Amino acid sequence: MSDPTARCPEWLIDRMIDGGGSISFHRYMDLVLNDPENGFYSTGRLNIGKYGDFCTSPSLGNDFARLLAIQVVDWLLDLEKSGIESELFSLVEIGPGEGTLSRDLIVAITEIAPALISKIELILVELNPGMRERQEKVVSNLNGINCRWSNIEELISSPVTGVVIANEVLDAFPVERLVFTKNRVFRQGVTFRKINDEYFLEFVDLTPTYEIIKFLKESNNLLKIEFPPKDICNRWVTEWHCDVPIWFGKLSKVLINGSLLVVDYAMESKRYYNASRKDGTLISYRNQEANPNVLKDAGLCDLTSHLCIESTINYALTNGWKFMGETRQGQALLALGLSNFLYTLQNTSSNDLSAALNRRESLLRLVDPMGLGEFRWLAFQKDNSDNLILGNRFLEEPIS
Ligand SMILES: C[S@@+](CC[C@H](N)C(=O)[O-])C[C@H]1O[C@@H](n2cnc3c(N)ncnc32)[C@H](O)[C@@H]1O
Repeated sequence: MSDPTARCPEWLIDRMIDGGGSISFHRYMDLVLNDPENGFYSTGRLNIGKYGDFCTSPSLGNDFARLLAIQVVDWLLDLEKSGIESELFSLVEIGPGEGTLSRDLIVAITEIAPALISKIELILVELNPGMRERQEKVVSNLNGINCRWSNIEELISSPVTGVVIANEVLDAFPVERLVFTKNRVFRQGVTFRKINDEYFLEFVDLTPTYEIIKFLKESNNLLKIEFPPKDICNRWVTEWHCDVPIWFGKLSKVLINGSLLVVDYAMESKRYYNASRKDGTLISYRNQEANPNVLKDAGLCDLTSHLCIESTINYALTNGWKFMGETRQGQALLALGLSNFLYTLQNTSSNDLSAALNRRESLLRLVDPMGLGEFRWLAFQKDNSDNLILGNRFLEEPIS
């Protein structure tokens, strides 16, 4: 059945005709986000922030970056102490969105460890030209910092040592959607139908690829994840982040020594691949509204889906990374000193009351267990020196 709210834009009809009448959900997600002329990200049409399409932690003010910078500085100093030679240490941000996290991290590092800043270069890795244009405006105001944009392939040919941050990026990677009936699995596809001179999008069942079958078998053998779980409804839907293992593989060739921090929507396999989660985790965002209808307003919304924690760690391990640990964002930020920030706000003079209240609200949102506080911080390390010990302050008992 076609959904009358899921109109198919003309440009997408052309892409589907090129694909033989239907495309996989993975291709659909890639097109609506990243198609060079029409994608939500590539055109730079979306806005991140309180008054934009959705909020991310860095878009709530600079406190997220100020706290994260404490951990980044620890890692950079550990690299320096371990005697690893590098002309410059790289701070690489993947998928920098509006560019605010990169900017605010550099400002915070300058405050915390001024001697480090001349030894750092900032590298932004952005897939979409529309977003890069926005980042250029934000980051260009930074003085005295080596800064460049690059892509993974360029970095593989000229690898770096340092810290890589990927905040809310992997959730925007296109996913395969899988549809299970009692005894069959399908690859979800997307097609279009003409009704009264208008074109609408609808789902279609496609044959699963060899890679999908391999993923299901390996998840069961290696991680003991059962597909499908017991007692599913008919047409139970879930996702596979098929691009994430490829990304870890490429990134392990980018970083010679150092750390990688992935911060994202994520949950354990038991909660993810659970009979009660019958539509998976995919959701669309526009104007701060979440919508489970992921075919609606194609190319005008963000699409996002959670990571499975065990699968993500396994993808990293099988691609040359060492796992350092993971925790919820709320815990991580408290461990880095968020409660001190709240405490100092209490002493704000009454002239600054409105700004202080806004800042307090943002700090509480960062640790809210019903919101950003539930995000996961997953840290990995690359060590080609056999000598590298990185401290993970964000995993320590929170400071009260
Ligand atoms: C949800 S936004 C997150 C922005 C930012 N990290 C933040 O927290 O505000 C995702 C960003 O990742 C970019 N992106 C998506 N896929 C990417 C990829 N494969 N490589 C690099 N950037 C990517 C998007 O264009 C966008 O800038």
